[in-house]
Amino acid sequence: MASRYALLPLLLLASTSFAQNPLAIPPALDLDTFHLVTDEHVHQFYPGINTNTYGASAEYLGPTLVLHRNDTARIWVHNQLAQMTSMHWHGMHVPGEMDGGPQRVIDPGDSFMAEFPVKNPAGTYWYHPHPHELTAEQANFGIAGFIIVRDEDEEQLALPRTYGVDDFPVVIQDRKFHASGDFAFYPFGDSVLVNGTPRPYLECPAQVVRLRLLNGSNARIYALGLDNGQPLQVIAGDAGLLPAPASADRLWLSNGERAEVLLDLAGMEGDSLLLISYGAELPNTVPGSGNLVWESSLLNGVNFPVLRIRVAAPTPEPITEVPSALISIPMPSESESIRTRTKTITGMGMVGMGMFMINGLMFDLDVVNDTVRLNSVEVWNIVNNSNMAHPMHIHGVSFEVLARNGVPPPAHERCPKDVVLVDRFETVKLVMRFGEVTDGWPFMYHCHNLLHEDNMMMLQYIVQDPTMSLADHHHHAMAVFPSPSSTTVRYRTEHAVQRIRIIDARGRVLQDEARTASNEGAIDIHALPQGLLLIELHGEGRTTRSRVVKE
Ligand code: C2O
Ligand code: CU
Ligand code: CU
Repeated sequence: MASRYALLPLLLLASTSFAQNPLAIPPALDLDTFHLVTDEHVHQFYPGINTNTYGASAEYLGPTLVLHRNDTARIWVHNQLAQMTSMHWHGMHVPGEMDGGPQRVIDPGDSFMAEFPVKNPAGTYWYHPHPHELTAEQANFGIAGFIIVRDEDEEQLALPRTYGVDDFPVVIQDRKFHASGDFAFYPFGDSVLVNGTPRPYLECPAQVVRLRLLNGSNARIYALGLDNGQPLQVIAGDAGLLPAPASADRLWLSNGERAEVLLDLAGMEGDSLLLISYGAELPNTVPGSGNLVWESSLLNGVNFPVLRIRVAAPTPEPITEVPSALISIPMPSESESIRTRTKTITGMGMVGMGMFMINGLMFDLDVVNDTVRLNSVEVWNIVNNSNMAHPMHIHGVSFEVLARNGVPPPAHERCPKDVVLVDRFETVKLVMRFGEVTDGWPFMYHCHNLLHEDNMMMLQYIVQDPTMSLADHHHHAMAVFPSPSSTTVRYRTEHAVQRIRIIDARGRVLQDEARTASNEGAIDIHALPQGLLLIELHGEGRTTRSRVVKE
């Protein structure tokens, strides 16, 4: 304890000169069609020091995309990196085909357009790359951005929502710099960047303001609070509003998690306060604590400033009160669940690596680990028997946390979520409805410690439409057979096939050939690599998709 506190004066000293740079606010774009260009850049986080970065249409990070519920989102990703990428719309309910998981590869020089109806409620979501084994690296270099969903229900509430005026995106990342100025690829950093700004301050009007907090760090978990003892008024979590503001002295934010908080700064013009991460409070099981066995960092186990807030004059039409009620977003109840699954995390490891497994398994692009029914409700128990806490994330759904070790979670966690921190020896019980089909493009579930994720602490599931299942099975059994096969498969379809595409589990098109229209035929697959193949049979305006295993 003593040694930990010995560091505090140093940090406090640093904090008097802490706030030197105005917080960068990424531009907010509200468009019918977005274009994100992933590319290499050079950025100066510190004056005169060049850092090689990646960005999404920016030197570092990317613009905030504003989406409207019930509209159609169209987002092009143009990959100008020298390596493949993919782009995932974290938290958004989109079909597997548009989810941007590791199968949805965008090769260097290629583009991909994600198009999906915006179904999520108003909230704070984000995008980041998700390429197989390269997610941490590309995110560490800087590719990530906010998605803000707006809807009519939220617009009825008297909440601050003027972007950059009383409503601010705040992505917190720690980074480690080499002496050269370049980023080190390491689980922890000694520098805190907020929206890419080191030692940031934000001028806020003296009224109620909204911060949209996102932990965009590789592995560090933050225990956020204000230095003046004022509690945070949490109004939303990962994927939508809470029924009412929940006041919290501390807000833990694990990797990928979001929270929207209100700060009541009315009457505080001229004051200043600090958003602090009380890292000294984190237990030894949590990355960012002072656990000496793990990778080290100056910021581990100590309290450090994240953002200084300087209170300036109020705006002409300020929000001056924290509303007493928000919106209850309907979530499925446990009694609707048709199935309970248990996902047990095991393994021992470091924050930056390890052999962590889910139900004894590690990620295999060619293996589907779970099959769920479209629109069904399930309960998942995540049990952590490993040596540390893991932020667990599920694609394609929002879930509700029913209990932690049998006890209902604190009020600020009772909203739709898609990441949940599961501590060592903890069991977290989730309920969710699976509302999106996968149709050949599985959804991931994984640890959002990006290094664990890239170290295969990830599995995948598919969602099948039960109303289609009979026809579909018939279809699949009929469409392409036999599976597995090592040489030739045959197809038989209701529609004439004029074009055949074969796609591997990473989304690469292996073969694309035109055929003379026919309802039957043979496909030679002997030269194709082994694994799960997606066969697309196009013709007469229809597409039949079928998976076969090449042996
Ligand atoms: Cu934030 Cu699998 O992703
Ligand atoms: Cu996700
Ligand atoms: Cu993990």
